[in-house]
Amino acid sequence: MVRVEDSTGRETLLQASGLKTGKALDVGMGGCACMAFYLARKGFDVTGIDRSSRAIHQARENAKTKRLMGAFLARKADATKLPFGDDTFDVVLAFHSLHHIARPLVAVREMFRVCRPGGKVLISDLNFTGCKIYKHRHDAGKLLESVERVARQLSAEVQTTDTRLDRLFVCTKRKVFRLEGSN
Ligand SMILES: C[S@@+](CC[C@H](N)C(=O)[O-])C[C@H]1O[C@@H](n2cnc3c(N)ncnc32)[C@H](O)[C@@H]1O
Repeated sequence: MVRVEDSTGRETLLQASGLKTGKALDVGMGGCACMAFYLARKGFDVTGIDRSSRAIHQARENAKTKRLMGAFLARKADATKLPFGDDTFDVVLAFHSLHHIARPLVAVREMFRVCRPGGKVLISDLNFTGCKIYKHRHDAGKLLESVERVARQLSAEVQTTDTRLDRLFVCTKRKVFRLEGSN
């Protein structure tokens, strides 16, 4: 049984963001909505999206059980076409979800679009060891490299940190910002 090092990654990401409160969007939150609930408990006003109806249902049920409905909204949506206006959120994050998304770089661009200028885009995804342990078959090197390239185009600053299983990206959205291309 693999022990998931979620708590370390979540805490590291949040601390590195420097944010204490605000409007958060969790992209590909999953049925457990672990990162979304983590932020809701810390006082953020959280929206979680997933394209799976089952995940949305599970996340809502979990939120009821955990009494987090007031601070958490689940909405069915595609990460590559987020149903939010530009500059809507203080923090937009994808925790272990990009490698599940068919066009991850389109999703990353969308994350930057809906984040406010100066806000934070936080990404955590599996590195080589993470892929091996989770038996996940995507090309971690290519994904992480491409994410970093796009993040650097759209950020005033990008910090990367490696945990044993993941690479974390803490990005600050540029104040002056233009989206180009869509690979
Ligand atoms: C491993 S789970 C995410 C785990 C979760 N973020 C956490 O904090 O533990 C990946 C999720 O990405 C979702 N997903 C895949 N493609 C998507 C897309 N295009 N748009 C939105 N969600 C997507 C899947 O339905 C799945 O629930």
